Amino acid sequence: MMCAHVDNSIGFEFPMTTSDEVALSQYMRQVRHEVDELLANVATYGEGCPRVLEDAIRHILLAPGKRLRPMLVLMASDACGHRSNVSLASACAVEMIHTYSLIHDDLPAMDDDELRRGLPTVHVAYGEANAILAGDALLAQAFEVIARCDASPEKVVRCIRELTEAAGPCQLVGGQVDDLQAENSVGNVEQLQRIHERKTGAMFRVALRLGGIAAGGEDEQITRLDTYGRHLGLAFQIVDDLLDEQGDTEQLGKQTGKDTEHGKLTYPALMGVEGSRDLAADLIRQACQQLDIFGETAEPLRQLAYFVLERNN
Ligand code: IPE
Ligand code: IPE
Ligand code: MG
Ligand code: MG
Ligand code: MG
Repeated sequence: MMCAHVDNSIGFEFPMTTSDEVALSQYMRQVRHEVDELLANVATYGEGCPRVLEDAIRHILLAPGKRLRPMLVLMASDACGHRSNVSLASACAVEMIHTYSLIHDDLPAMDDDELRRGLPTVHVAYGEANAILAGDALLAQAFEVIARCDASPEKVVRCIRELTEAAGPCQLVGGQVDDLQAENSVGNVEQLQRIHERKTGAMFRVALRLGGIAAGGEDEQITRLDTYGRHLGLAFQIVDDLLDEQGDTEQLGKQTGKDTEHGKLTYPALMGVEGSRDLAADLIRQACQQLDIFGETAEPLRQLAYFVLERNN
């Protein structure tokens, strides 16, 4: 098999076969297509939804995000051998919550960013109040998408419970609060790891767990997916920190250099670029070890892990 060494803007090099790359990009394109279609449907509102709200939601939700979290849901279901209607609904819901968190993360009161997914941020395009409200609407609607699933009430309630927990005060929102409080402070790696695991890792983990639950996976499979997600989510945010320092605005579709400007606690600030890269690579290896019990059905998850490390957007 031919081997291509991928060299990205933050300098990782990993052997990834060209056929793996082709398979992954085809898989990603197909998942994107399915999820995008569903999102476009879900974000078509009837009477009662003001035009400006619908426009603000569609502006960011249908913009070209990487769709990593919905991919993880579907890949986790595939790893467990069965994709169900709950898999697709969960994929959609996870992306809606992620998108709400981006809208709010970009607000002047938070990271004050003007570019997201290659477009003006929602508050720049539609005003702050509409941005806050578009985020609120997406968060609420995400749960409706799962609640409407034609599946057993036990499965639906479990998915909703897991998702509320991941998006809630002790996970995503708590991590965001601590991220803001840590600005311009002297922090340590343990503190930063806790921030990243909650503000970013929790949504990775729940995406994988929902995929496993939707597929009717065994407890052991769900636990392995969860641990894979914990390592992957932390590695993802470390790479995000690196890209903020070394990435390219045009490729990323968001501004760079903002973490330093805001005095954010980041991995490169605490461990240096080399140390951060090594840690991210190590986490990806640990993530992939969790997939051993699945065999071939987890191949997309293995490849996605290396994509996360090698990405430049
Ligand atoms: C950005 O996430 C927010 C972080 C957790 C770092 P992504 O880089 O996955 O953003 P999109 O969805 O591709 O826009
Ligand atoms: C954002 O982390 C995490 C969430 C949105 C929950 P960042 O603030 O680092 O994300 P970017 O760099 O703005 O995408
Ligand atoms: Mg932030
Ligand atoms: Mg931000
Ligand atoms: Mg960032």
